[in-house]
Amino acid sequence: MPVSYDAVVLGGGAAGLYCALTAAQRGLRVLVMEHGKKAGAKILISGGGRCNFTNEEALPTRYISQNPHFAKSALSRHTHWDFISLISQHGITWHEKKLGQLFSDQGSKAILQALLDECSAAGVTLLTDCSVTGVEYGGGSYQLATTKGDFFAPKLVVATGGPSIPKMGATGFAYDLARQFGLGVVDPVPALVPLTFSNTDLVFMKALAGVSLDSEVRCGTVGFRENLLFTHRGLSGPAILQISSYWHTGEPLVIDVLPGVPDCAAWLRSVRAKNPQLQLVKCLQEYLPDRFVSAFLQLYVPEAADVSLGQMSNVLIDRLVSELKGWTVYPVGTEGFAKAEVTRGGVSTADLSSKTMEAKEQPGLYFIGECVDVTGWLGGYNFQWAWSSAWAAAQAL
Ligand code: FDA
Repeated sequence: MPVSYDAVVLGGGAAGLYCALTAAQRGLRVLVMEHGKKAGAKILISGGGRCNFTNEEALPTRYISQNPHFAKSALSRHTHWDFISLISQHGITWHEKKLGQLFSDQGSKAILQALLDECSAAGVTLLTDCSVTGVEYGGGSYQLATTKGDFFAPKLVVATGGPSIPKMGATGFAYDLARQFGLGVVDPVPALVPLTFSNTDLVFMKALAGVSLDSEVRCGTVGFRENLLFTHRGLSGPAILQISSYWHTGEPLVIDVLPGVPDCAAWLRSVRAKNPQLQLVKCLQEYLPDRFVSAFLQLYVPEAADVSLGQMSNVLIDRLVSELKGWTVYPVGTEGFAKAEVTRGGVSTADLSSKTMEAKEQPGLYFIGECVDVTGWLGGYNFQWAWSSAWAAAQAL
């Protein structure tokens, strides 16, 4: 016998659970369908197990979308304070790590448990290990054929995320469903992802695998000052993950490895005047890791690799500074969906209401969370989008 609900939510991740509990608190009979064995897998691994559940400055400008205004409505109506208020009722405390990033003191498990407890208290039915095999719409109702029977509901919320980390059950299901109902999909690509390199760049980077340094990484007009990490495949670390969301194939990255020394040439000249015997390598080690300094000089400014400051002309200082503050590299790609924290692109915002997340031309069909073409910076922005967009949809169900 087909079972009917007021709303069915596909995907038991951050957005799906939050939408379900909010709608059920409003009195709706809600079913969440999750194809994994357990709900909330990405919440559990997020923030290294501590869940960076929001950011105090989740401004719309920190989200990438073909429509930069789209996220404004949901983000302004349901803020980080609303989510904090919910988790506080579950005894969860939190701290800011840096840059407005809020982490749970009790870890990711406590955040997931709070969401599951809220769902259960509000009477949400959660069906795990359940795959949808077909979705039809007719007579004002969605009919879902699944591995656990048939279900009906006048409202269908798609919260199945994006394809990042497929081994955790991530799929492009939302895009297929969007296309089935005539919505556009902005080409999904890996974001918040390490970047790969070839040739000389890669030999240099591999030799420095494990080294991390403060940097400002720019791509076009966008820049991030955070740590950069050398890896066996290229570059990673927060600065690189952030810029990866803005990088397109063929574009260079321009990296300042001395962002803390704005006038580097003046600094080198003044140290040269006081201590001409000082080796350049030693001088740079005040700000940069030893291994990086030697390798960088040998590759990019070999004539300065083995000199004292007194042996450096102003011209050589200027050349060195332009290399250190404008180190230009050309990524050849990313480490792909297997390593991407999120997906850029997704269900086109042109076909959704920013107030309700409902499809403009398909009544009762909603898309929320990561499957929508709204991608946040690293640092709690993506969970805040999941909470805000889920809440916005739940008000309209
Ligand atoms: P999410 O992917 O969470 O949930 C979708 C659910 O749908 C999954 O449970 C999936 O199994 C299910 N599903 C998929 N296809 C289905 C189908 N066909 N039928 C039924 N169910 C289906 N963000 C942040 O703000 N702070 C952080 O600390 C981190 N940390 C982090 C670490 C790592 C390693 C990753 C990979 C990602 C993060 N993120 C993050 C990003 C964050 O996890 C992500 O933005 C949200 O989980 C998105 O929430 P959604 O609910 O939209 O998708």
